[in-house]
Amino acid sequence: MAILKIARMGNPVLMGRAEPVSDTASPEIRRLAKDMIETMADAPGIGLAAPQVHEAMRMVIYYVPETRAPGGVPLTVLINPEIEILDQTLEEGIEGCLSLPGMVGMVARPRHIRVRALDLDGQAFAYEAEGYHARVVQHECDHLDGILYPMRMSDLSSLGYVEEMTRPDDDATMSEEDAE
Ligand code: NI
Repeated sequence: MAILKIARMGNPVLMGRAEPVSDTASPEIRRLAKDMIETMADAPGIGLAAPQVHEAMRMVIYYVPETRAPGGVPLTVLINPEIEILDQTLEEGIEGCLSLPGMVGMVARPRHIRVRALDLDGQAFAYEAEGYHARVVQHECDHLDGILYPMRMSDLSSLGYVEEMTRPDDDATMSEEDAE
């Protein structure tokens, strides 16, 4: 286990298309998944994509805290994930990213998706995600195609440093712990 260095915006590893994982059950992939989990917990954050730790492979991890969705979503590993949009309706929400430390911005994303992926045993699985859950998955999977959340923003005036934007009476403000 190891805490990995997180690449920040501008690093070329974040800008390219990551390669599919060919051997999901390899010890290297399992080790990377464990290291990513430890790195995400240390950051702290709620999601992390392999390119963010300098591995240009199609693997992401995430969870959704109970504070963000009823019951939350347990820690999930997605290998070679694919997203199908089930409802094009866009929903706005605040996002942060461990590759843009300290910053948040308002991003509109489709609110309802289906996710298909492989797990660490190479087994295919699929599920639907809505709302904040759908947002987290889309944010992480964007990392696999070289897309950072500011590239999805229609109005960059909402991009800023969370410390400057936080107001005690504003519960819509994202905490840094929500960074992906
Ligand atoms: Ni991110």
